[in-house]
Parts: sequence; structure tokens; C-alpha cells
Amino acid sequence: MAVQLTEAELKLLQNLVYQECGMHFDERRAHFLQDRLHRRLRECKLDSFYSYYRLLISREGKQELALLLENLTVNETSFFRNKAQLDLFHRYILDDLLHRKQTHRDYCLRLWSAGCSTGQEPYTLAMLVADGLAYYYLRNPLPLEVSSPKPLIPHPWKVEILASDISYSVLRAGQEGTYSENQMTSVDYSYRLRYFDKVGDRYAVKPALKQLVHFDFHNLKTEYLPQRNDAIFCRNVMMYFDVPEQKRLIEKFARCLTPDGYLFVGHAESLLGLTQSFAMVHRNSGTAYQKVEVKA
Ligand SMILES: C[S@@+](CC[C@H](N)C(=O)[O-])C[C@H]1O[C@@H](n2cnc3c(N)ncnc32)[C@H](O)[C@@H]1O
Repeated sequence: MAVQLTEAELKLLQNLVYQECGMHFDERRAHFLQDRLHRRLRECKLDSFYSYYRLLISREGKQELALLLENLTVNETSFFRNKAQLDLFHRYILDDLLHRKQTHRDYCLRLWSAGCSTGQEPYTLAMLVADGLAYYYLRNPLPLEVSSPKPLIPHPWKVEILASDISYSVLRAGQEGTYSENQMTSVDYSYRLRYFDKVGDRYAVKPALKQLVHFDFHNLKTEYLPQRNDAIFCRNVMMYFDVPEQKRLIEKFARCLTPDGYLFVGHAESLLGLTQSFAMVHRNSGTAYQKVEVKA
């Protein structure tokens, strides 16, 4: 017989998940939480949800807690997701960032895909930046020797894309960087030709592009997050947090950005009414948010 989950146990576990990773399970999503809790309880062969809770908060339960959180994440993603927003980044914002950096003789562009899932988002950014930077360089060459063959990122520019997530299994998939035909649907042939090798029936990200992306574990709930980013993409992640947690995360992102840096959130997410630290940038159906100085 299935073990009963009482209201009190559900509340305890709901609160624990919220404390640990910010994910909020309202009535609409409570069923999903209950389903995953039942699965984990069966795996651990425990006879009550209270014992499961005790395990999660114990020192020995650290691994099980990570597994539970992993089971609660929604990892849906795709290459070139939200095309209008990526066009805004590629056509206007990237130019603005590169121009400002060059003025300060800072040739390192830092992007962060926060909640990167299996890697399609950071690799999309890598392709857009490689193309965008090559075109920028064509218009703004530096008086330096040009090596042959041309590197993907022209000297002295450097591109660092951090791809982070709370789930170790998606980080492993991103690091592997191979994708099925189905996952490649939104990648057109010119990108496939330049940035992928065909390995068996899968597409593997070419090493030169892969080198631009570094995968790492970061829980967005914690205070210690990567600093000095020129742009942060945190898309389709905040929608699983409640409003207080969204507000806290937005202010943390403001602190993790360089002055005038940009934040990109998902199509169904918005910063409106949540912060004064960002101003909306909207062009041709694409939206982003630029960090602004908050006046005291
Ligand atoms: C729906 S996917 C979005 C992927 C990609 N950003 C996109 O828009 O296609 C959400 C991702 O956020 C991650 N996530 C959820 N809560 C997180 C947290 N507290 N810290 C870091 N990542 C988190 C999940 O593991 C999941 O991979």
C-alpha cells in the first residue's frame, strides 16, 4: 500500500525545498511535488515521509537532497529559444557591450547562463557572440597582427560563458555537448555547418565553440554568485519561484552585473513592479533589462 503523505509532512517538505533552492510549489504544482516525493520515498525504501524529511536534513542525507532537487527541476530548453530576444541581444546589445568594453580597453566579455539546463542556451550564446564579435572586429579592427587561420575569437578579445545549474545530470549533458536531430530542429544549416560535427546520429559542438563555455554548479538561492558579468541570461527559471524569492534574485543579479550590464529573463517572466535596479529595453518584440544606478 502507498505511504500516506499528510498535510503537515507536505508543508515540511515544501518549506525545505523552498529554503534549499527557491522553488515554490503552489496548488497548481503541488501534485507534481507529491508525485516526485512518492518516487523518492520508494527509492529510499522508507516507511514515512517524516523519516524521509529527517533523512534530508541530516548530514548523511546531502546526496538524497541533491537528488530530490534534481527530480523537481523542469529542464525544458532548446537552441535559439525566444528568437526576438536573441535578435535584440545579437543586433544591438552585443554591439553596445563590445563598444563600451573596447573604450575601456577591457577585451574580456563575460556572459552567464544561469539555469542553463542541458546547454542549448549557452551554446546558442556562444554561436551568436562568435559571429557578432567577428562582424564587430571587421568594422572595428585593432592594429594587431592577424594570425592565420583566423581564430574563432579575434585577438585580443576573450569570451567567457559560464553555464550553471542546480542539476548535476543536466550539467553533465551540457558538458558532453552532443545533441539529437530532434534537439537540433531550431538550428539552421549554416550554424550546423560551422559549429557542429556529425558523430554517428548526433551533432557534437565543435571544440573551438565548446571552449568558450564553462559548466559549473551554482544554486541561485545562495548569496555567493559569480560576479562581473556583462550579461546574465536567466530564462524560464524565476517562473518557479514566488515573488519574494524573485525579488531577492533580481537584486542579486544586479550585484553580479558590471555597470550598465543586461539581464534577460524568459518570455513569460517580467521584472515589472519587482525592482528599481533595471530599466526595460524593448525592440522589435525582444525585451531585456539594463542595470541602472539606483539614486539614494
Ligand atoms: C526550464 S529550464 C530553462 C533552461 C534555459 N534557461 C532556457 O530558457 O531554455 C530551468 C532550469 O533552471 C534550473 N534551476 C531551477 N532552480 C534552480 C536554482 N535554484 N539554481 C540553479 N538552477 C536552477 C533547473 O535545473 C533547470 O535546468
